Amino acid sequence: AYRIAVFASGEGSNFQALAEAANTGALGGAELALLVCDKPSASVVRRAEQLGIPAFVFNPKDYVSREAYEREIVMRLEELQVNLVVLAGYMRLLTPVLVERYRGRLINIHPSLLPAFPGKDAIGQALDYGVRVSGVTVHFVDEGMDTGPIIAQRAINIVSGETSESFSQAVHGVERELYPEVVSWFAQGFVKLDGRQVTVSRTSGQV
Ligand code: GAR
Repeated sequence: AYRIAVFASGEGSNFQALAEAANTGALGGAELALLVCDKPSASVVRRAEQLGIPAFVFNPKDYVSREAYEREIVMRLEELQVNLVVLAGYMRLLTPVLVERYRGRLINIHPSLLPAFPGKDAIGQALDYGVRVSGVTVHFVDEGMDTGPIIAQRAINIVSGETSESFSQAVHGVERELYPEVVSWFAQGFVKLDGRQVTVSRTSGQV
């Protein structure tokens, strides 16, 4: 069975959606073993408490390097036999300590249609640029910034008069559906990675 760790830094609406999906069996039997959070004051920490999900909460300033806290995270993941790492609004670039160890088992959700608008504030970038379509991408994590192999994407139209609040709400609505679905594909063994090529061997529905 899949044992998942969710990494988050903020609000945690994706974390919440994943936890709820796990509880209703919509994650294909996968369970949330751990929340990893780099911001002790983040709302997601309270959500984990309410849901009874164990959390490893740390302050990066207490460590000499990124590698140092990532080594600590890896220890926790191994203790709990985590086999899928799910980044959900985790606002830090990972080092090879995590990327190499969990390659092919480490995914991220990003609020744009990659490779457009990588990095911070993808929603603001898309609105400033003036694109009429943006969306959501779920991808494997590699050493780069939002550059890993793409697993699934959903397009969302940007209507005229769109604000960052309204578009961000639309993005979150799509994310709440898409991320649990993609995690359930992993749990069912549908996802294969070969170099940059991702195959999702699903019999029906959109990838
Ligand atoms: C989500 O929209 C996610 O796509 C984005 O942060 C938000 C977290 O929301 N991630 C990134 O921008 C990663 N570069 P949440 O805390 O409510 O799940």
